[in-house]
Amino acid sequence: MKKILITGAYGQIGTVLTSALREKYGTDTVLVSDLHPKEEEKGQFELLDILDDKRLREIVDQYDITEIYHLAAVLSAVGEQRPRLAWKVNMEGLLNVLEVAKDYDLRVFFPSSIAAFGGASPREMTPQDTVMQPETVYGISKIAGESWCHYYYENFGVDVRSVRYPGIIGYQSLPGGGTTDYAVDIFHKAVAGNDYECFLKEDATLPMMCMGDAIRATIELMDAPAEQISVRTSYNIAAFSFSPLELATEIQKYFPDFKVTYKPDFRQKIADTWPESIDDAVARKEWNWKPGISFEAMVKSMISHLQ
Ligand code: NAD
Ligand code: SER
Repeated sequence: MKKILITGAYGQIGTVLTSALREKYGTDTVLVSDLHPKEEEKGQFELLDILDDKRLREIVDQYDITEIYHLAAVLSAVGEQRPRLAWKVNMEGLLNVLEVAKDYDLRVFFPSSIAAFGGASPREMTPQDTVMQPETVYGISKIAGESWCHYYYENFGVDVRSVRYPGIIGYQSLPGGGTTDYAVDIFHKAVAGNDYECFLKEDATLPMMCMGDAIRATIELMDAPAEQISVRTSYNIAAFSFSPLELATEIQKYFPDFKVTYKPDFRQKIADTWPESIDDAVARKEWNWKPGISFEAMVKSMISHLQ
């Protein structure tokens, strides 16, 4: 019987993925875990620091876990502030998950990122396979993580699947310390009637995706028949790209008085090394990935939900 464990479940993506998986498979099929409890939790929860390998194994054993969606991580901006922590959590955490997956024959979802690319990669329509020399600790942990996933698939047959998420934008939850966080924060300010000071330059174009599409991509990839999955590092997926200025201009169609100023900080240096747009042809061909929501529709949806 299917039993899912989500690590880092109370983060930006986990909050929404949990609801989607519980809706699809039933509340009791999905056990969530994170570093801290949440009062409003309605389903099964366990405290789990992903660095605690022993506790992870106890949980897998106790609940007869069959799949792990491994979301626990330190993101790009926090990672540049605390590089050793980012490396430890992102690397040792993944290895703990892959080891338990090997021993208990579990399926695994591992989210990689556009941060796995670096300044030496083509910036526009960055291909699935290209030069990858990430320049942040977070990016280095993602490319190493992808390689470990491939290794565990090839050597131990672990059914591990992965996508390189772009920046994810959703109204349901708040982001947790990344470089693309501005694209969520800006909506909260606009809807509250406040101005916004952006920490990226006005022309810092990055690939982005709305939360609904990111969750659907995750579930569709995990549902795809194994023979359709040729990539065991991580798949490029894409929806749209925009700069802070383009986003502000679209929001101003709803709030004409909304003002945005630009004060780039250390996160601009991170964004400078990431792709502007992504070529996701391989995911489209192999498991029929297709984004469903346009940039304009995403802005409209964010505003109406936050209002
Ligand atoms: P988030 O920062 O919002 O959430 C991460 C969660 O992990 C938090 O709830 C945190 O408490 C938990 N966590 C941190 N350290 C932990 C530890 N030692 N043990 C257990 N839990 C721990 O992140 P997110 O945006 O939900 O991202 C989820 C995954 O998707 C991450 O792997 C991230 O790298 C990846 N990703 C996210 C985006 C995005 O735009 N949100 C883009 C690309 C990739
Ligand atoms: N959205 C993420 C970040 O900014 C990209 O992986 O860190």
